[in-house]
Amino acid sequence: MLRWPASRPYGDEDHTWWVTSDLAELATRAPLAPDHVLGIGGASTTLAQWTPRTPVGRALDLGTGCGVQALHLSTHARAVVATDISARALRYAALNAELNGVTWELRRGSLLEPVAGELFDLVVSNPPFVITPRERGLPTYEYRDGGAHGDYVVEHLITHVAGLLAPGGIAQLLGNWEIHGDQDWRERIGDWARASGVDAWVVQREVQDPAQYAETWARDGGHHPATPEFARMYAAWLADFAARDVTAVGFGIVTLHRPTTARRPVVDLHDVRAPLTGPLGPTIADGIAARVWLAEHTDADLLARPWQVAGDVTMEHHVIPGEAQPRVIRLVQGGGLRHTESLDTAAAGLLSVCDGEVTAGAAITAIAALLEEPVEPVRARLVEALRRWVAAGVVRAATAGSSGSSPGT
Ligand SMILES: C[S@@+](CC[C@H](N)C(=O)[O-])C[C@H]1O[C@@H](n2cnc3c(N)ncnc32)[C@H](O)[C@@H]1O
Repeated sequence: MLRWPASRPYGDEDHTWWVTSDLAELATRAPLAPDHVLGIGGASTTLAQWTPRTPVGRALDLGTGCGVQALHLSTHARAVVATDISARALRYAALNAELNGVTWELRRGSLLEPVAGELFDLVVSNPPFVITPRERGLPTYEYRDGGAHGDYVVEHLITHVAGLLAPGGIAQLLGNWEIHGDQDWRERIGDWARASGVDAWVVQREVQDPAQYAETWARDGGHHPATPEFARMYAAWLADFAARDVTAVGFGIVTLHRPTTARRPVVDLHDVRAPLTGPLGPTIADGIAARVWLAEHTDADLLARPWQVAGDVTMEHHVIPGEAQPRVIRLVQGGGLRHTESLDTAAAGLLSVCDGEVTAGAAITAIAALLEEPVEPVRARLVEALRRWVAAGVVRAATAGSSGSSPGT
């Protein structure tokens, strides 16, 4: 059957590209072919927005499809390798590279196999992460389904992709993960993150129940509810989830970083459901730098520095009318991953004096004296808070003549 391609303009703040892919089901009004090559979707733009755009040497786009991530990589990587299992996808990627005047090395093969033994400074992947029942006769789609059981593709990538990272290199991928029974999502993903052997920062952005997930992905291929095909897929999804006691499915962004020094990797797992806007690449780059600094410095180093509260941080005071003291004080970050937390009097005091002048150690001694509390427990509590704030970009190390820069720079 002849299938029509579709070209559309797409870009970032500084570039406009033409991207060609297969025509989506909304245009064809028919179920997609199994080797359908996806255009630019929500997941594509999510990954593109979260990727740090720091200049790098070699970059890899694993599961390139029509090449959308590779186009972004071309703006800040000296060399781009793009892989896919689909010959059709690689033909579109080659066409898009040509159309946009860029050069990529395109390689066909599954997951890590086409680049085994090589090192990259940046790896990005919007992999085929959709958890799909492996029931005979159900339609499968190369663009979203890696052919494995459950969330194995994502587990495999998280636990193995760091083998491709040069020292200081970053891998960033999207994924779905199963949440079993009443387990906290951090248990399974934490195991995968630790198994990666490098720093891992996982942000869970959404959680769907099995029924919502089944409906989303049964519809996604262009199948309409109330058709026998849809009903069969929906039932198969629910049965597959029930067989493994899957009670929810998480979606998130995983960032891995290979340290440049011999130390224990940092594993950080966060649930961030707040709406986020704008490119988050700078937040990821700063967040990695901050985590590296924290891993390589002691509490004494932290206390010896003056810290400066970032310009997008405010404190909300919730006061019962007629009362003088607030009942609740909340820290609210306006940008980044929109960190929020409730502050006790000591933490609110410390944040208020993070003016880039006074060291955290001196501030904490003064706060303990004002509160008439022994200094040791106050210091222990506030060091923990300060570490959280540094990681989240709520405070930054003050440097002479600046309004604050990342720790470690
Ligand atoms: C969700 S699409 C992502 C396309 C594009 N990178 C983007 O960000 O929109 C996943 C891609 O992975 C490819 N793929 C599926 N199974 C694969 C495998 N085992 N190894 C490598 N790529 C695979 C698909 O052909 C598809 O192009």
